[in-house]
Amino acid sequence: MKKILITGGAGFIGSHVIRHFINHYPDYIIYNLDVLTYAGNLENLNDIDKNKNYNFIKADITDATLINDLFKEHNFDAVIHLAAESHVDRSISSPMDFIYTNIVGTANLLNAARAIWAENYEGKLFYHVSTDEVYGSLGDTGFFLEDTSYDPQSPYSASKASSDHLVRAYHNTYKLPVVISNCSNNYGGNQFPEKLIPLAINNIKNMKPIPVYGKGENIRDWLYVVDHASAIDAIFHKGKIGETYNIGGNNEWKNIDLIHALCKIMDKKLNRKPGTSAGLITFVTDRAGHDLRYAIDSSKLQNNLGWSPSLEFEEGLEKTVDWYLANQEWLHRVVSGEYQKYYDEMYGKN
Ligand code: NAD
Ligand code: DAU
Repeated sequence: MKKILITGGAGFIGSHVIRHFINHYPDYIIYNLDVLTYAGNLENLNDIDKNKNYNFIKADITDATLINDLFKEHNFDAVIHLAAESHVDRSISSPMDFIYTNIVGTANLLNAARAIWAENYEGKLFYHVSTDEVYGSLGDTGFFLEDTSYDPQSPYSASKASSDHLVRAYHNTYKLPVVISNCSNNYGGNQFPEKLIPLAINNIKNMKPIPVYGKGENIRDWLYVVDHASAIDAIFHKGKIGETYNIGGNNEWKNIDLIHALCKIMDKKLNRKPGTSAGLITFVTDRAGHDLRYAIDSSKLQNNLGWSPSLEFEEGLEKTVDWYLANQEWLHRVVSGEYQKYYDEMYGKN
């Protein structure tokens, strides 16, 4: 029975990763460690949280003593580290939250793993989940490869780049068994509605303006979150220690084209006259330092580990719209902050 610590499991991607591991690996004992920030929501795991192999630990990765104690108590065999502050716009207004959680928090986990494994690394793994934003911004052509130089542009991406460097440094210096993946933009159910796609779906549903930064010319490479979870599975089980793998959907969309595609789907689903939702598009002030284009070359992962995305974007987008329309209560509670009140009552404010 392998004991696997998954950090950030109450968040968007983490909850899909936990569901994937619980459903595919009944022999693993999964520990979900999450402090439940505004982005953490245990409702995301309602369907699996009664599983006997699932455990929740409410803890803050910036608390070194607590993290060390938890590693001593549970003696985890492996870590899949997703906990992070993840929203670029918030990193512009509150960079220190990103520095504490993404950099100091990652260092605390590395130190705890190193101490408990005590250089007996047989069967151990520290898997760090990162982002393509560490590579900076592309022009009109080219792709991010695993050896593309780091050039982060926002406090968020700089904090993630810093955490990647720490993970590699612990491998080089202490031989800690690590693997890193850098993924492009995810979309799907359970994403907090501060990110472009769920924010737009929520606004379209409520006939509110859809804020498009600048002229909507920026390009992102979108991957369905369930496919990110299956890529993490492939890398966790078959990835080579010390290596980095890029994960992406080979699916580039200009923001404005994506929003138009979304508006068309929403018009159809809500029985609106074609063009109604697109009428909500509103161009607003651009994000400071807004990266122009991200595009991932994931051929290393595809060729060496046999992973590929399972869905076409149009199908994934429609599934995503269906999820949000079917989960209006979830969306309402998240937007109204009611779920935070619930957690405070349920788990206390600490
Ligand atoms: P999210 O914001 O939805 O979830 C983050 C989770 O981490 C939340 O549950 C939150 O409560 C938890 N957390 C935050 N600070 C914590 C702390 N100090 N201690 C313990 N838990 C804490 O994020 P996401 O979009 O699911 O991203 C997960 C990971 O994947 C992040 O590391 C992010 O950098 C990376 N990533 C995200 C994307 C994307 O498109 N969303 C793409 C590539 C990589
Ligand atoms: O590339 C991976 C990254 O993708 C992850 O590491 C981040 O955690 C994740 O948040 C995401 O970052 P982005 O900044 O690309 O995602 P976001 O959804 O915030 O924005 C997507 C694009 O849409 C971006 O070009 C900014 C634009 N945008 C965003 C919002 C929220 C708008 O035009 N209007 C908006 O209201």
